[in-house]
Amino acid sequence: MSASAQIGVTGLAVMGRNLARNFARNGYTVAVHNRTAAKARALVDEFGDEGEFVLAETAEDFVAALERPRRLVVMVKAGEPTDAVIKEFAPLLEPGDMIVDGGNAHFADTRRRERELREQGIHFVGTGVSGGEEGALNGPSIMPGGSKESYDALGPMLEKISAKAADGSPCTAHIGPDGAGHFVKMVHNGIEYADMQLIAEAYQLLREVAGYSPAEIADIFRTWNTGRLDSYLIEITAEVLAHVDAATGEPFVDVVQDQAEQKGTGRWTVQIALDLGVPVSGIAEAVFARSLSGHKDLRDASRGLAGPKAEPLAKEEAAAFADQVEQALYASKIVSYTQGFHEIAAGSDEYGWDIDLGQVSAIWRGGCIIRAAFLDRIRAAYDARADLPSLLADDGFAREIGEAQDDWRAVLVAATRQGVPAPGFAAALAYYDALRADRLPAALTQGQRDYFGAHTYRRTDREGSFHTLWGGDRSEVSA
Ligand SMILES: NC(=O)c1ccc[n+]([C@@H]2O[C@H](COP(=O)([O-])OP(=O)(O)OC[C@H]3O[C@@H](n4cnc5c(N)ncnc54)[C@H](OP(=O)(O)O)[C@@H]3O)[C@@H](O)[C@H]2O)c1
Repeated sequence: MSASAQIGVTGLAVMGRNLARNFARNGYTVAVHNRTAAKARALVDEFGDEGEFVLAETAEDFVAALERPRRLVVMVKAGEPTDAVIKEFAPLLEPGDMIVDGGNAHFADTRRRERELREQGIHFVGTGVSGGEEGALNGPSIMPGGSKESYDALGPMLEKISAKAADGSPCTAHIGPDGAGHFVKMVHNGIEYADMQLIAEAYQLLREVAGYSPAEIADIFRTWNTGRLDSYLIEITAEVLAHVDAATGEPFVDVVQDQAEQKGTGRWTVQIALDLGVPVSGIAEAVFARSLSGHKDLRDASRGLAGPKAEPLAKEEAAAFADQVEQALYASKIVSYTQGFHEIAAGSDEYGWDIDLGQVSAIWRGGCIIRAAFLDRIRAAYDARADLPSLLADDGFAREIGEAQDDWRAVLVAATRQGVPAPGFAAALAYYDALRADRLPAALTQGQRDYFGAHTYRRTDREGSFHTLWGGDRSEVSA
């Protein structure tokens, strides 16, 4: 087989197949391979007229079909299958070749794989891909890690097939070495969980407190989508809420079981944040809300517990309440992104990735699930000040969240009074209030720790560590 393909894709389920077609539609010759060869044949049979494909039935044929340096994209199930595929292909490759893992790998696995393959002179490019199957075909947001050298060889192709932001710039950029790309994709998914949870809480409040129907709430979301909340998730929420179940004639949202599932990247975002000591309470509440919803037995056993039953507002009050919910949603969204970007900054410091946060927000503006007008604002904030310590330190976001806070608090008062859970809104407000507080009760926590464990504390008035002799005369000693 002559080496004619500029890129190869192995793993041709929905994502790999659409990514291969995207490369071909953009003028690249694409070698296609799948463990079960029938899928590769089916792809060429069905879509062969979209561009140049080279069908490879064996690993050897696949590698032989690729121009050097070889660019081999792996789109298989994350975890062991990815290791199996690397084990199969690495011995067939030569120094300078690239293995691009576009699956949802854990960044720690990516760091390990990159290290192992580097010893062989192979570039391992752990790459986040967001946008689902539609994005993979028509332009995803792509977050490649790996060496700068690999980006030089691969970047122009990724830029061509990626989504484009409204200003025409590609939604991909070199994120940083080894696991940086998969880390950023992981936090992207964590933010996605938080965005979805906040939208779900807004829906529940509009339904139970304001008394709107799903169709009316769809209209409210459509209106919000013309303003500062303009985003893919708000847009599809309106579509889902407006959908009527054909079998029953009921709103679709009323016939779906209220138990949310998850694949794991949101959970990873929280686990890693705990390791890094970064408070991502909004993302954590979103993960916990999904897990709580799935505990059917626990919920069945608790359904009759005492508490208020929400009583819908009068029509004239409902519209004003909806405006307040918009403020609460927007303010909470600012907090989720603040927390997510904090986690990326902390990961970048920990692993020496030197991630450009403004660039991350720029490549999320198109193609990915959290794409939103809002990301332009974040990019502008980092453009104005690259070392911004927090999004809340940006004058524009600080002003907006300040203006939203009365309504945000009012929504949480209503939610609490009426017994409607709003953990995302509440966690976001608590984070905001904790950050702006003059003093936190952490001082008392330190006192308790010193009392039972002699863990020591620092004083406000002088340097050093101290311990109080709690069991003795309660005098203070330097520790
Ligand atoms: N679906 C999405 O929206 C989405 C979005 C972003 C990222 N991703 C990530 O992209 C990757 C691909 O996702 P997907 O939904 O298209 O497919 P998938 O269901 O995750 O994986 C199926 C593919 O993996 C191959 N595979 C499984 N075990 C293998 C092994 N031991 N050796 C070789 N190949 C093996 C399968 O080959 P056979 O056909 O032979 O079984 C098939 O091509 C995943 O890592 C996923 O997490 C998915």
